[in-house]
Amino acid sequence: MTCNILAYSKDAVQRAASVLKEGGLVAMPTETVYGLAADATNDGAVAKIFEAKGRPQFNPLISHVASAAQAQDFVEMSDMARELAAQFWPGPLTMILPRHADCALSELTCAGLPTSAIRVPSSKAALALIKAAGVPLAAPSANISGTLSPTTPAHVAESLGEKIDMILADGACSVGLESTVIDLSGDTPIILRPGGITAEQISEALGMNVTIHHPDETDESAPKSPGLLLKHYAPNIPVRLNAIDVAEGEALLAFGSIKFMGLKQGGAASSLPESRIRNLSENGDLHEAAANLFRMMRELDQPDHSGIAVMNIPDQELGIAINDRLRRASGAV
Ligand code: TXA
Ligand code: MG
Repeated sequence: MTCNILAYSKDAVQRAASVLKEGGLVAMPTETVYGLAADATNDGAVAKIFEAKGRPQFNPLISHVASAAQAQDFVEMSDMARELAAQFWPGPLTMILPRHADCALSELTCAGLPTSAIRVPSSKAALALIKAAGVPLAAPSANISGTLSPTTPAHVAESLGEKIDMILADGACSVGLESTVIDLSGDTPIILRPGGITAEQISEALGMNVTIHHPDETDESAPKSPGLLLKHYAPNIPVRLNAIDVAEGEALLAFGSIKFMGLKQGGAASSLPESRIRNLSENGDLHEAAANLFRMMRELDQPDHSGIAVMNIPDQELGIAINDRLRRASGAV
């Protein structure tokens, strides 16, 4: 038995909002990936998210709000936060900010930290749902912990269908990668997770050079974002990066032209059967590649494939976030 899947409409939003108000779980579309939403002010509802995802309790969640004004009810917005909100909200940017002393967000959403992660999604369906529910919505990606994030309602139904009350469906996600997470709670802003908004865009907005935190570069210091250290976004079969050919049994995740891509045992990659090849973007467009990434990794994640060979993707702009997810999928963080 699976849960209710309702296409985005006024009526579906009302139904989803009542499920949330009663403490239930709804998978909601956002522009990045589908989120598993619960009332962020209800401890019992938030606990259900961890249970459904099989997620370690120490990993804090993002609370989704409808506007920067609503964010200010829960966290302190510094000048920098206000500037970023003005430029990038609604959109794929999550800010880590200090919580107000009387912050109504469940302690479970912040896993004991003095900060909360907050964002205003740009998806119309998500915004309508947040407004109809009248509360901030805690929502991690709607998948079992450690597996690929869902970018279509079908992905959600496959992995969580039996554990949640409803899926609000609104097609495929336009960005396809999780939001950029920036920590604004310390002296200098630092990007904890590369995503839909690039480090260049943020640096330009703030008039300063903002860098991406790499967990392996800091020796003793504890990870600032616990979720980032886990092998994450992982298919069930091995992922091999920067492949220049395809081994016997492997599937190919291509980027750009495959004219010069060969098979290890001889022959051209273009001769692979349809089931063993996907191209993130034939024209080498990074936005298109990001939007296709998780769906195509899933499609190639078949037990009769020995692994996924991934072609090189330029490490610039959105390519930085794509390569981050691919490194995690390969276990080579
Ligand atoms: O695009 C997205 O951000 C999606 C959609 C549904 O909005 N959500 C998402 O949530 O990816 P989640 O829970 O899978 O990722 C949240 C990330 C995790 O890496 C978590 O460790 C980090 O944000 N995080 C949350 N609160 C934090 C905090 N207070 N301090 C540091 N990191 C935090
Ligand atoms: Mg996730």
